Amino acid sequence: MAEEQPKQVTCYLLFSLGTAVIGSLQFGYNTGVINAPEQQLRSFFNATWVERYGVPISPGVCTIVWSVAVAIFSVGGMVGSFSVGVMANRFGRRRSMFLVNSLAVIGGVLMGLATICSSYEMVIAGRLVIGLFCGLFTGLTPMYVGEVSPTPLRGAFGTLHQLGVVVGILIAQIFGLEFLLGSEKLWPLLLALTVVPAVLQCILLPFCPESPRFLLINLKQEEQARKALVRLRGSEDVSKDLQEMKEESAKMAMEKKVTIPELFRSAAYRQPLLIAVMLQLSQQLSGINAVFYYSTGIFTSAGVKQPIYATIGAGIVNVLFTVVSLFLVEKAGRRTLHLLGLGGMAVSALLMTISLLLKDYSIMSYFAIVAVMLFVAMFELGPGPIPWFIVAELFSQGPRPAAMAVAGCCNWTANFLVGMSFPKLVELCGPWVFLIFTAFLILFFIFTFIKVPETKGKTFDEIAQCFGSAPPPSSSSVEDPPASASTAMTLPASPVKE
Ligand code: GLC
Repeated sequence: MAEEQPKQVTCYLLFSLGTAVIGSLQFGYNTGVINAPEQQLRSFFNATWVERYGVPISPGVCTIVWSVAVAIFSVGGMVGSFSVGVMANRFGRRRSMFLVNSLAVIGGVLMGLATICSSYEMVIAGRLVIGLFCGLFTGLTPMYVGEVSPTPLRGAFGTLHQLGVVVGILIAQIFGLEFLLGSEKLWPLLLALTVVPAVLQCILLPFCPESPRFLLINLKQEEQARKALVRLRGSEDVSKDLQEMKEESAKMAMEKKVTIPELFRSAAYRQPLLIAVMLQLSQQLSGINAVFYYSTGIFTSAGVKQPIYATIGAGIVNVLFTVVSLFLVEKAGRRTLHLLGLGGMAVSALLMTISLLLKDYSIMSYFAIVAVMLFVAMFELGPGPIPWFIVAELFSQGPRPAAMAVAGCCNWTANFLVGMSFPKLVELCGPWVFLIFTAFLILFFIFTFIKVPETKGKTFDEIAQCFGSAPPPSSSSVEDPPASASTAMTLPASPVKE
């Protein structure tokens, strides 16, 4: 083990991370915001229908409009997350975040003016645009955070994305209470509120640095990268960081600009790509959003009297355990926490099944609350935060944006599938429904146990070596690598810092 690398945390680094994480907060807010005002939105759809056609909307059509308004968010998310790579490489990380905020303004204004314009189409269009915006940020924030953080703290800071998400969900749950903004009159404001953090982030971003890795590796602007690092680390001596990036850069020399098809074609990316995708799927197919989208219904069927407060309770546990994970992740490691989380969720899902099966005993409503809270707590230990930042760790600068796009898109697709199918699954399986997630959780536990390496404390370069290969060559240069790259490949790995 090599000497401990100092953990350089400066106010400027925290400021830059905080600014980037506003994007995560937006993702959480818009995930959580739509559930509380369901009835208000349904009556608005009806009122618009009556105004246009003189007859009330049929319940079937109303449910279709409602489901589309909810689900189109994830469709936007899939498209947005898939576009991350192109944007991040073309405009850079910081400018992309800045530009993407325009989508939040457009989406927020569309939803906010829907009642004034008597148009439910504007709610749907707004949700689509907001989904696009959130999809882009689920790639941009983890990428930026991973790239500006010092190696020994990359996991702890990586968890900040998820912390932003869960705080966003909690704010949405609280603001959505009927006596706050979830009322008949104020719900458009609740949906439009997303404009405020977008404007705030645009004001703050110009004061943040561009990612030094992007400056050095993509743009070859060493001096600019050095300046950004000096400010971020608060020290003139940033040679170690620079050295690490240069080594990575040299190795990446022949694989820069990895496109998505290349990512799939190259055998050397197969392992990390499989891991990245499986971890994202483990996050969503754990069933977490069945809880976050439908917890009120779950609590009601378990006999809980005030389900909305139990839901907010779950939101609070969600935040608390993300903080716990933030402190544990650099000590316990990613792999251990992910395994612990998946195992704990599998047990909690069993407990939830028992509580739903025995709901005729009144004590079971408390049991259900405890089981849901445990489920959420275990999720935030590992499966919540880790998949989001580990993708940035598993890939070097060349393939990173493409890998984040693929991983993000898988996440959003699985999110969409769970969100859409859960009500139908409840109809089909009744109280047994959570056993489906238990089965998935066990499968993902086994996969993680066998396949996922520990990335804690390792440089990006060392992680690449875990997969038994130097960074893979691009398709065109397999036989004839440029000299710089072939010499760089023989560099010894720098020691693991733990
Ligand atoms: C993760 C998931 C998101 C979920 C949230 C719950 O960020 O990606 O879908 O709603 O955690 O905390």
